[in-house]
Amino acid sequence: MRLFADTGDVNFLRKFAYLIDGVTTNPTIIAKEGRPFKELVQEICSIVDGPVNVEAVQKEAPAIVEEALGLSRMHKNIVVKIAMTEEGLRAVSELAKKGVKTNVTLVFSANQALLAAKAGANYVSPFIGRLDDAGQDGLLLIEEIMDIYTNYGVETEVIVASVRHPLHVVAAARIGAPIATVPPSVFELLFKHPLTDLGIKRFDDDWKKVQVEKR
Ligand code: G3P
Repeated sequence: MRLFADTGDVNFLRKFAYLIDGVTTNPTIIAKEGRPFKELVQEICSIVDGPVNVEAVQKEAPAIVEEALGLSRMHKNIVVKIAMTEEGLRAVSELAKKGVKTNVTLVFSANQALLAAKAGANYVSPFIGRLDDAGQDGLLLIEEIMDIYTNYGVETEVIVASVRHPLHVVAAARIGAPIATVPPSVFELLFKHPLTDLGIKRFDDDWKKVQVEKR
């Protein structure tokens, strides 16, 4: 499973670059950093050698295509996130012909994921945490999409997004989702277990009782 970081925090990305396969951002994440957009994206691309997802904000297909072409020129690893609308999918189809990589975002149903794949999206981003918040089972949606994509040998890859806790990551991996994009707060929790800390302390305490010869 590939792990993407759902963040624009370059300090976090530097620290964990050895474990991170790609980056996802959205307008909210970019705004949080309070830095000029292009400068930030260039820095992210210099840290992580993998897909760096940045979002187009235009609403009509021709404008989305133009914006996406501009974004994709920033770096060879740019993937353009495009919202799941009819105009968005029209743009995805055009961009696929031009060789621009796309990620259809704000996906909340299996039918949306099916259409995004048909339009030629490289990735789809179902937002599981936001579905859970709305009283629907986000992970069930991942299962449905994975089943459909497997049935038809679809090459579009699922990025499990809006991840809220470590169990989301485990469940996504058990389903076989190829990618999960994880915010820093959840990523750091993946390392931890209280029994690991307790075990280290016990071993350290016992090691103090051992006589170790000096050479
Ligand atoms: O980047 C897209 C997605 O992961 C956003 O998550 O936490 O804002 O629902 P969240």
